[in-house]
Amino acid sequence: MIIRKELIRKYLEYFKSKNHKEVLNSSLVPENDPSVLFTTAGMHPLIPFLLGEKHPLGKRLCNVQRCVRTGDIDSVGDSYHHTFFEMLGNWSLNDYWKEEAIKMTFEFHTNILKIPLEKYAVSVFKGNKIAPMDKETFDIWKKLGLKEERISLLGEEDNWWETAGAGPCGPCTEQFFYIGKKLPKKFDPKDKNWVEIGNDVFMEYVKDREGNYKKASLRNIDFGGGVERTLAVLNDLDDNYLTDAWREIIKKIEEVSGKKYGENEEETKAMRIISDHLKAAVFILGDGVLPSNVEKGYVLRRLIRRAIRFGRVLGIKDFTKKVSLAVFSIYDDYEILTKNKIFILEELEKEEKRFLETLEKGMKEFEKISNNSKIISGKNAFLLYQSFGFPLELTIELAKENGIVVDEKSFYEEMKKHQELSRTFSSGVFKSGLVDDSEKTKKLHTATHLLNEALRIVLNDKNIFQKGSNITPERLRFDFNFPRKLTDEELKKVEDLVNKKIQECLDVYFKQMSLEEARKIGAQGVFESKYGEKVKVYFIGDFSKEICAGPHIKNTRELGKFKILKEESSSAGVRRIKAVLE
Ligand code: ALA
Repeated sequence: MIIRKELIRKYLEYFKSKNHKEVLNSSLVPENDPSVLFTTAGMHPLIPFLLGEKHPLGKRLCNVQRCVRTGDIDSVGDSYHHTFFEMLGNWSLNDYWKEEAIKMTFEFHTNILKIPLEKYAVSVFKGNKIAPMDKETFDIWKKLGLKEERISLLGEEDNWWETAGAGPCGPCTEQFFYIGKKLPKKFDPKDKNWVEIGNDVFMEYVKDREGNYKKASLRNIDFGGGVERTLAVLNDLDDNYLTDAWREIIKKIEEVSGKKYGENEEETKAMRIISDHLKAAVFILGDGVLPSNVEKGYVLRRLIRRAIRFGRVLGIKDFTKKVSLAVFSIYDDYEILTKNKIFILEELEKEEKRFLETLEKGMKEFEKISNNSKIISGKNAFLLYQSFGFPLELTIELAKENGIVVDEKSFYEEMKKHQELSRTFSSGVFKSGLVDDSEKTKKLHTATHLLNEALRIVLNDKNIFQKGSNITPERLRFDFNFPRKLTDEELKKVEDLVNKKIQECLDVYFKQMSLEEARKIGAQGVFESKYGEKVKVYFIGDFSKEICAGPHIKNTRELGKFKILKEESSSAGVRRIKAVLE
């Protein structure tokens, strides 16, 4: 039996022995990236560096990153889908290339993890309009001893990796491990017994915002491997939920419900959903997101409420806190959870209470609405949503169970009347994507640093910190802690101070230093050793100092005129400013 912590240790040890430096695990809440809601892969927090920024730790990096993929919510319930997972990752920032990368992946899989060669297979990109077949990779695998019947050539659906937005991309080669009983002669990627355990992406192309591809000037490598499935296959399990990344949570659910995992299909499905969703919810809360009706908060709400609803299948109520305790014991290596334990558990309980208060009434309403009808109108779905806190997915699921459909289109039309919500749904942020690195976003990013400092000065409060940032080419959005609305006069002063600094033509530059030094010089930023030992501190003249990955423009004279559009409440004790550069 190999357990989660051992797999992680072996992975990091191996790549460190190959001169990789460990980048610590980043928040699930991406910084400055409007294109995704959550961190969906280990490469995500590294995007600036994959686009050419110098990383303080060098050109060879590795880590294990917590990730959430919301696209999979509805598939959770089988043996291998989950929304939360951990990803083993290693990167070459324009350093080693295909041969060395593949050799290391191969050695890790077959020597360190001891996967027998006959049970190991790979896929290689067969070429498309953008790029030719990846013959180099094919030949490398053959040289390493893989037989041709263990190599499959696949198209862009499988072997081209990119995210929704602009950014680095390219062909990839995936590695598979056979878990079935009777080893087939030929590798068939469609056969479910071949489980994908790793993926080396060769980022030799860049996609621009119009969707055009061109050869990249840098050659980066991005490896990713799922911890849970690797654990499952290494332990000869055909169900990820039987690994130690889940076992304790499932046990708690068994305890609370008196039911047994694996005995009944519906109940087993419910147990998987509850354990996945609560695990994801604990981590999302740990990163400071609260349940709400927009964006990340809405996903969190959906996860918690869906878990509670599946509790009904098991006949349990009031269980989120009890079951979630197991998440803390499995992941006791996450300081972010230990530190925020009380807060996380309280918020879970509060959300459960809020939902239970309306769930019964909502179910009655649902029955009334669905009785004798084949379709639930958008208006009714919206009523359930607004008055009874039913996420749309819940209504759809309930409808499905009753053999009826929901008019989703008109639901969204109803929703459109509620601006904020509609934006969440239509913005496409549920998909994965890359930060866009245009000049406009760079400028707004630099302006955000100026704003951050200006607020502290104008409001005369040293304890104001960034609580969130989201930048699109059109505008910046900055959240910070402050107990009240800002006056017009204060806003004007902030605006004026930022514009004054722009006019002073201050140089923007960075220095690398230890976290300790950064703290000492009074740099703003997250001090949870985010980028490992050394960090980059961006200076704007001597006005602002912030720990930040970049990128930024070179001098404030490039910014133009700064204008605040709006100041509003974001959540309790947090204010939000939207601003533009004209
Ligand atoms: N980023 C790559 C993936 O998610 C490695 O598969």
